[in-house]
Amino acid sequence: MNPFVDEIVEKTAAAAALDKTTVRELLSVPPREEMGDYALPCFTLAKQLRKNPAAIAAELAGKIATGEQIERVEAAGPYVNFSLNRPRFIAYVLRQLAEKGGNYGSLNQGEGKTLTIDFSSPNLAKPFTIAHLRSTAIGHAIYRIHAFLGWRCIGINHPGDWGANFGQLLAAYRRWADVEKVEANPVPELVALYTRFNEELEENPALQDEARECLRQLEAGDGETRALWAFFVEEGRKEAQRIYDILDVHFDLTMGESEFANKLEEVVEPFAEKGLAVASEGALIVDLDEWDMAPCMLRTSRGTTTYHSRDLAALFYRYDTYQFDKMLYVTDVSQTLHFRQLFKAVELLGVGWSDCCAHAPFGLMSFKGEKISTRRGNMVFLEDVLDQAVELTGAIIEEKNPDLGDKESIARQVGISAVIFADLDSRRTRDVVFEWDEVLNFDGETGPYIQYTHARFCSILRRYGERVDFEVDLGGLGEDAEMRVARQLARFPACLEQACSENEPSLVATFLIELATVANKFYNELPVLSGADQGVIKARVVLVESVRIVLRTGLSLLGMKAPEEM
Ligand code: ARG
Repeated sequence: MNPFVDEIVEKTAAAAALDKTTVRELLSVPPREEMGDYALPCFTLAKQLRKNPAAIAAELAGKIATGEQIERVEAAGPYVNFSLNRPRFIAYVLRQLAEKGGNYGSLNQGEGKTLTIDFSSPNLAKPFTIAHLRSTAIGHAIYRIHAFLGWRCIGINHPGDWGANFGQLLAAYRRWADVEKVEANPVPELVALYTRFNEELEENPALQDEARECLRQLEAGDGETRALWAFFVEEGRKEAQRIYDILDVHFDLTMGESEFANKLEEVVEPFAEKGLAVASEGALIVDLDEWDMAPCMLRTSRGTTTYHSRDLAALFYRYDTYQFDKMLYVTDVSQTLHFRQLFKAVELLGVGWSDCCAHAPFGLMSFKGEKISTRRGNMVFLEDVLDQAVELTGAIIEEKNPDLGDKESIARQVGISAVIFADLDSRRTRDVVFEWDEVLNFDGETGPYIQYTHARFCSILRRYGERVDFEVDLGGLGEDAEMRVARQLARFPACLEQACSENEPSLVATFLIELATVANKFYNELPVLSGADQGVIKARVVLVESVRIVLRTGLSLLGMKAPEEM
């Protein structure tokens, strides 16, 4: 943590005859800043000692001596409140920043560990959906947070380019496709065919047999079927790649389901060896009844592979290739059962690494109102959403700051990042309602607000004009507004640690909103460039620079841009 917390913990542990870990866990932040910087609630102790918590707090406060780091120890009801020596604390935090710069926040705690993360992974027979945008944004942020903390990261795109959906698309194409139309405008036409298939399926269930037959031909390697499939996949990939380019997302490995469709034997064998592969109505399954789950199906009664068997093959491949310490799948919550079945199946195999696998599910995103303009029929195409974000942001910039240079590039950086932030700012598993006015509000809890604060702090430094000298005397800092900023900066390393272990980028998003808020307050309340003592100004500029660094790092960890002007 930091020497301040260490001293509180040490002295409190001695005074209360508790072990340090317990004290550390109990230590919290008081609800109001006048109360102090840390608080020790005495309820647990009271239970143990069968005493009144307020009496214990009073007794402890009397026993704990103040010192270099701790300026005040006071009992307030059932709490002991601690106030730090402010100038010392602020100087400590800023020195850490000076030392680590853009690396501040990382303790390199992931060194030697490998994360493999499967994210985005769109289904290429269907349109690139909002769910895949979420998976892309969330997965990319989780990847970047781990990498920043020193993990070796392998970002894997595992597109759905095989299986039942392709059987359906092939069947639809053979029935209804107008070849010229498809060639002129592939993705929307294919999406329309796929949609039509699923609509007509309700009236005509026999279509499903056609789809299954197409899939069988595909798995059997029929030349014409394969060629058609290859064309569908290629078009889907191009569409996805355009979106990755817009979002500036890259993968270390792209290996779709199709590449694991011929590995069925390798999947079945280990299960068969352990007696875990059971024949059931012509199919081959791993029975998971005991865990109240439907079976994990290895092979259908038609002899084709399944989503499960392809995922198993991919998982074996990943472990063989990377020996991961954490294998994370980022998809919407609807696939929770699929991954529970998958993980249970490998656990039953007795591989040593089944506990390394985890699913990071996320909630649904819906659009409020019908404000998405679609240029391609009545479907929401992601690319159009992203284009619209840039357009709307351009209009806001035009209004707020018409003299800004390179407005187009900045509108792009802000608009796209706003959409990314909207995907990241609430807890993963919560559903999100997307509304332009909210997402693009420069004064709300939004991406543009954080970027704007970053640009504002860059502009303060530009106006300051001199090199920021981290060596100056920082002893003059200690105002409430300065202390608030320092406290928030000090929380960054722990915030990243938690975001990493919980696979929860929203913690970083919330952190940045809070930092931007206290930083703006600081700038609004205190003179920074003039109107104060030269020494104080020099010290405040160090605070400004520190805020700028952390905002920039945080934005980059979320996969967002940090323009210096906007
Ligand atoms: N293609 C799937 C979908 O579109 C997501 C795949 C997630 N990754 C995996 N290995 N199953 O929903």
